[in-house]
Amino acid sequence: MRSDVTLRPLDRTLLTDLLLAAVEDADPLEVMPPVEGPGGWTPERRSAFVRFHESRSLAADRMETTFAIAASGRVVGAARLCPVEKQAGTAEAGVWIGRSHRGVGVGGAVLELLADRARAEGFTSVYVSTTPHNLAVQALMARIGVHLVLDGDVLTARVNLGGDVR
Ligand SMILES: CC(C)(COP(=O)(O)OP(=O)(O)OC[C@H]1O[C@@H](n2cnc3c(N)ncnc32)[C@H](O)[C@@H]1OP(=O)(O)O)[C@@H](O)C(=O)NCCC(=O)NCCS
Repeated sequence: MRSDVTLRPLDRTLLTDLLLAAVEDADPLEVMPPVEGPGGWTPERRSAFVRFHESRSLAADRMETTFAIAASGRVVGAARLCPVEKQAGTAEAGVWIGRSHRGVGVGGAVLELLADRARAEGFTSVYVSTTPHNLAVQALMARIGVHLVLDGDVLTARVNLGGDVR
């Protein structure tokens, strides 16, 4: 596993770095819910990105935990854990990494670190959902021996945190 990859709980300073990483290195649709209007990182979309994280992760009544992913000290993406409603002990995992940092082992390291964080928060399993064309997520799940199942038009899996995610 890459030892230079860390997860840092999101705060306002890291949110500024995260916005920069997203704008420089990711498509809006990879990192936030769709926003009406012209494509690209418009001022409206940048504001929506900040509001999205402020409301979900930085508010007093936050609904999920978000981490800035740092590689060699630089913020390159985000990972989140969101409790799944009516499924006690399960958190949905979400991850994005900037394009120029993909395919070099950051995702694999994040998977292990996020599993550790989920355990520390008291979760016993992590829910993963992706599209059939997302080969990187499929490779990550295959590496830890987890089978993704087609559910409608998405692939889903539940990763049991009882074992070692390595
Ligand atoms: C999915 C994502 C987080 C994976 O992170 P990553 O840093 O690229 O992953 P890694 O470099 O650790 O590679 C993990 C595995 O995927 C494979 N992989 C990476 N990119 C791939 C690609 N484009 N096509 C096929 N396999 C790929 C690697 O070879 C590796 O497989 P291995 O364990 O058998 O060697 C990253 O690609 C990403 O942010 N994508 C955009 C957002 C997204 O799809 N998020 C997930 C939503 S569920």
